[in-house]
Amino acid sequence: MEKIIVAIDGFSSCGKSTIAKALARYAGYTYVDTGAMYRTIALYMLRHNIVADADIIAALPAVQVGFTLVDGAQHATLNGEDVERFIRTLEVGNRASQISQIKEVRAFLVAQQQAMGKAKGIVMDGRDIGTVVFPKAELKLFLTASPEVRAQRRFDELVAKGEKPDFQAVLADVNDRDYRDTHRAESPLKQAEDAIVVDNSHLTPDEQMKVVIDLFDKIINHQL
Ligand code: DC
Repeated sequence: MEKIIVAIDGFSSCGKSTIAKALARYAGYTYVDTGAMYRTIALYMLRHNIVADADIIAALPAVQVGFTLVDGAQHATLNGEDVERFIRTLEVGNRASQISQIKEVRAFLVAQQQAMGKAKGIVMDGRDIGTVVFPKAELKLFLTASPEVRAQRRFDELVAKGEKPDFQAVLADVNDRDYRDTHRAESPLKQAEDAIVVDNSHLTPDEQMKVVIDLFDKIINHQL
Protein backbone atom coordinates (compact mmCIF):
# COMPACT_ATOMS: atom_id res chain seq x y z
CA MET A 1 0.00 0.00 0.00
CA GLU A 2 1.17 3.48 -0.84
CA LYS A 3 2.42 5.42 2.19
CA ILE A 4 1.65 9.04 2.94
CA ILE A 5 2.80 11.84 5.22
CA VAL A 6 0.39 13.04 7.89
CA ALA A 7 1.07 16.54 9.27
CA ILE A 8 -0.69 17.51 12.50
CA ASP A 9 -0.47 21.08 13.75
CA GLY A 10 -2.34 23.03 16.36
CA PHE A 11 -2.31 24.98 19.60
CA SER A 12 -0.84 23.71 22.85
CA SER A 13 -2.96 21.33 24.94
CA CYS A 14 -5.06 20.33 21.95
CA GLY A 15 -4.33 16.64 22.27
CA LYS A 16 -2.10 16.60 19.16
CA SER A 17 0.28 13.95 20.42
CA THR A 18 -2.50 11.64 21.61
CA ILE A 19 -4.20 11.64 18.23
CA ALA A 20 -0.89 11.50 16.32
CA LYS A 21 0.30 8.46 18.28
CA ALA A 22 -3.04 6.70 17.88
CA LEU A 23 -3.12 7.36 14.13
CA ALA A 24 0.48 6.16 13.75
CA ARG A 25 -0.42 2.95 15.56
CA TYR A 26 -3.50 2.47 13.36
CA ALA A 27 -1.54 3.07 10.15
CA GLY A 28 1.65 1.25 11.19
CA TYR A 29 3.53 4.52 10.65
CA THR A 30 6.37 6.19 12.55
CA TYR A 31 5.31 8.94 14.95
CA VAL A 32 7.54 11.99 15.38
CA ASP A 33 6.95 14.50 18.18
CA THR A 34 8.75 17.61 16.94
CA GLY A 35 8.05 19.47 20.18
CA ALA A 36 10.29 16.89 21.89
CA MET A 37 13.09 17.86 19.49
CA TYR A 38 12.86 21.55 20.46
CA ARG A 39 12.69 20.51 24.11
CA THR A 40 15.82 18.35 23.75
CA ILE A 41 17.84 21.25 22.35
CA ALA A 42 16.49 23.44 25.16
CA LEU A 43 17.66 20.87 27.72
CA TYR A 44 21.17 20.87 26.25
CA MET A 45 21.34 24.67 26.43
CA LEU A 46 20.04 24.68 30.01
CA ARG A 47 22.54 22.04 31.11
CA HIS A 48 25.44 23.91 29.57
CA ASN A 49 24.21 27.32 30.64
CA ILE A 50 24.16 28.59 27.07
CA VAL A 51 21.90 31.61 26.87
CA ALA A 52 22.77 34.07 24.08
CA ASP A 53 21.31 33.37 20.63
CA ALA A 54 24.75 33.43 18.98
CA ASP A 55 26.10 30.89 21.49
CA ILE A 56 23.05 28.67 21.03
CA ILE A 57 23.57 28.69 17.25
CA ALA A 58 27.30 27.94 17.66
CA ALA A 59 26.51 24.98 19.94
CA LEU A 60 24.02 23.30 17.59
CA PRO A 61 26.56 21.00 15.84
CA ALA A 62 27.28 19.40 19.25
CA VAL A 63 23.64 18.50 19.78
CA GLN A 64 22.41 15.21 18.41
CA VAL A 65 18.65 14.84 18.78
CA GLY A 66 17.12 11.41 18.35
CA PHE A 67 14.47 8.95 19.46
CA THR A 68 14.57 5.49 20.94
CA LEU A 69 11.83 3.00 21.80
CA VAL A 70 11.44 2.04 25.47
CA ASP A 71 8.74 -0.55 26.18
CA GLY A 72 6.96 0.52 23.01
CA ALA A 73 7.01 4.22 23.97
CA GLN A 74 9.06 6.78 22.08
CA HIS A 75 11.69 8.55 24.20
CA ALA A 76 13.75 11.53 23.08
CA THR A 77 17.54 11.17 23.16
CA LEU A 78 20.24 13.80 23.53
CA ASN A 79 23.63 12.66 22.24
CA GLY A 80 22.48 9.09 22.82
CA GLU A 81 21.15 9.63 26.37
CA ASP A 82 17.47 8.93 27.06
CA VAL A 83 16.27 12.36 28.26
CA GLU A 84 12.52 11.80 28.08
CA ARG A 85 11.97 12.35 31.81
CA PHE A 86 13.95 15.59 31.78
CA ILE A 87 12.27 17.33 28.85
CA ARG A 88 8.66 17.40 30.07
CA THR A 89 9.16 20.03 32.78
CA LEU A 90 7.73 23.53 32.70
CA GLU A 91 11.27 24.98 32.71
CA VAL A 92 12.31 23.05 29.61
CA GLY A 93 8.99 23.84 27.93
CA ASN A 94 9.52 27.56 28.45
CA ARG A 95 13.10 27.36 27.22
CA ALA A 96 11.93 25.39 24.17
CA SER A 97 9.44 28.13 23.43
CA GLN A 98 12.29 30.67 23.47
CA ILE A 99 14.84 28.74 21.42
CA SER A 100 12.16 27.82 18.87
CA GLN A 101 12.08 31.51 17.89
CA ILE A 102 15.66 31.32 16.57
CA LYS A 103 15.75 30.89 12.80
CA GLU A 104 18.90 28.73 12.81
CA VAL A 105 17.47 26.38 15.44
CA ARG A 106 14.38 25.90 13.30
CA ALA A 107 16.44 25.28 10.14
CA PHE A 108 18.60 22.75 12.05
CA LEU A 109 15.54 20.73 13.12
CA VAL A 110 13.43 21.19 9.99
CA ALA A 111 16.19 19.59 7.88
CA GLN A 112 16.24 16.56 10.20
CA GLN A 113 12.45 16.33 10.21
CA GLN A 114 12.33 16.41 6.41
CA ALA A 115 14.93 13.63 6.26
CA MET A 116 12.77 11.52 8.61
CA GLY A 117 9.86 11.84 6.17
CA LYS A 118 11.81 10.86 3.04
CA ALA A 119 10.37 7.35 2.96
CA LYS A 120 6.89 8.64 3.98
CA GLY A 121 4.83 6.46 6.34
CA ILE A 122 5.12 9.12 9.03
CA VAL A 123 2.81 11.03 11.35
CA MET A 124 4.47 14.22 12.58
CA ASP A 125 3.03 16.73 15.00
CA GLY A 126 4.09 20.27 15.81
CA ARG A 127 3.36 23.85 14.87
CA ASP A 128 4.81 24.20 11.34
CA ILE A 129 4.56 20.70 9.89
CA GLY A 130 1.89 21.35 7.25
CA THR A 131 3.23 24.82 6.42
CA VAL A 132 7.04 24.50 6.46
CA VAL A 133 8.29 20.96 7.07
CA PHE A 134 5.96 19.07 4.71
CA PRO A 135 3.95 21.59 2.68
CA LYS A 136 3.06 18.72 0.32
CA ALA A 137 1.86 16.30 3.01
CA GLU A 138 -1.05 14.24 1.72
CA LEU A 139 -3.06 14.73 4.91
CA LYS A 140 -2.85 17.91 6.97
CA LEU A 141 -4.81 18.29 10.15
CA PHE A 142 -5.14 21.42 12.20
CA LEU A 143 -6.43 20.65 15.68
CA THR A 144 -8.20 23.26 17.71
CA ALA A 145 -10.31 23.50 20.82
CA SER A 146 -11.56 26.59 22.59
CA PRO A 147 -9.12 28.18 25.07
CA GLU A 148 -11.60 27.45 27.89
CA VAL A 149 -11.79 23.76 27.01
CA ARG A 150 -7.98 23.49 26.76
CA ALA A 151 -7.54 25.36 30.04
CA GLN A 152 -10.01 23.01 31.71
CA ARG A 153 -8.05 19.98 30.41
CA ARG A 154 -4.78 21.39 31.71
CA PHE A 155 -6.47 22.35 35.00
CA ASP A 156 -7.71 18.76 35.41
CA GLU A 157 -4.21 17.38 34.67
CA LEU A 158 -2.69 19.63 37.35
CA VAL A 159 -5.36 18.62 39.88
CA ALA A 160 -4.68 14.97 39.07
CA LYS A 161 -1.01 15.63 39.88
CA GLY A 162 -2.06 16.90 43.31
CA GLU A 163 -1.63 20.60 42.52
CA LYS A 164 -4.14 23.33 43.38
CA PRO A 165 -4.22 25.53 40.27
CA ASP A 166 -6.25 28.69 39.81
CA PHE A 167 -8.46 28.28 36.73
CA GLN A 168 -8.16 31.92 35.61
CA ALA A 169 -4.34 31.69 35.81
CA VAL A 170 -4.32 28.49 33.74
CA LEU A 171 -6.59 30.13 31.17
CA ALA A 172 -4.34 33.20 31.03
CA ASP A 173 -1.33 30.92 30.43
CA VAL A 174 -3.13 29.14 27.57
CA ASN A 175 -3.97 32.49 25.97
CA ASP A 176 -0.36 33.73 26.40
CA ARG A 177 1.07 30.63 24.72
CA ASP A 178 -1.43 30.90 21.87
CA TYR A 179 -0.37 34.50 21.36
CA ARG A 180 3.35 33.65 21.38
CA ASP A 181 2.89 30.67 19.05
CA THR A 182 0.89 32.67 16.50
CA HIS A 183 2.85 35.92 16.61
CA ARG A 184 6.52 34.89 16.51
CA ALA A 185 8.49 36.11 13.50
CA GLU A 186 9.83 32.67 12.49
CA SER A 187 7.27 30.11 11.26
CA PRO A 188 4.36 31.21 13.42
CA LEU A 189 1.63 28.68 14.04
CA LYS A 190 -0.91 29.07 11.30
CA GLN A 191 -3.29 26.81 9.55
CA ALA A 192 -2.13 25.59 6.13
CA GLU A 193 -4.67 26.58 3.48
CA ASP A 194 -5.33 22.95 2.63
CA ALA A 195 -5.42 21.69 6.23
CA ILE A 196 -8.57 20.08 7.57
CA VAL A 197 -9.64 21.69 10.83
CA VAL A 198 -10.68 19.35 13.60
CA ASP A 199 -12.24 21.22 16.52
CA ASN A 200 -12.28 18.75 19.37
CA SER A 201 -13.89 21.05 21.96
CA HIS A 202 -16.93 18.82 22.08
CA LEU A 203 -15.52 15.48 20.88
CA THR A 204 -14.48 12.58 23.09
CA PRO A 205 -11.05 11.08 22.26
CA ASP A 206 -12.83 8.14 20.60
CA GLU A 207 -15.05 10.40 18.50
CA GLN A 208 -12.04 12.43 17.40
CA MET A 209 -10.12 9.29 16.53
CA LYS A 210 -13.00 8.13 14.33
CA VAL A 211 -13.03 11.45 12.45
CA VAL A 212 -9.27 11.27 11.86
CA ILE A 213 -9.21 7.60 10.84
CA ASP A 214 -12.05 8.26 8.37
CA LEU A 215 -10.03 11.08 6.79
CA PHE A 216 -6.88 8.95 6.65
CA ASP A 217 -8.72 6.01 5.03
CA LYS A 218 -10.32 8.31 2.46
CA ILE A 219 -6.95 9.80 1.48
CA ILE A 220 -5.32 6.38 1.24
CA ASN A 221 -8.20 5.18 -0.96
CA HIS A 222 -8.13 8.36 -3.08
CA GLN A 223 -11.67 9.29 -2.06
CA LEU A 224 -10.74 12.76 -0.85
O1 DC B 1 4.48 20.76 21.69
P1 DC B 1 5.48 21.09 22.79
O2 DC B 1 4.85 21.83 23.95
O3 DC B 1 6.26 19.90 23.24
O4 DC B 1 6.51 22.12 22.11
C1 DC B 1 7.55 22.72 22.83
C2 DC B 1 7.87 24.07 22.21
O5 DC B 1 8.47 23.91 20.93
C3 DC B 1 6.66 24.97 22.03
O6 DC B 1 6.86 26.17 22.75
C4 DC B 1 6.57 25.28 20.57
C5 DC B 1 7.85 24.76 19.99
N1 DC B 1 7.62 24.01 18.75
C6 DC B 1 7.79 24.67 17.56
O7 DC B 1 8.11 25.87 17.55
N2 DC B 1 7.64 23.98 16.39
C7 DC B 1 7.30 22.70 16.38
N3 DC B 1 7.16 22.05 15.21
C8 DC B 1 7.09 22.01 17.60
C9 DC B 1 7.24 22.71 18.78
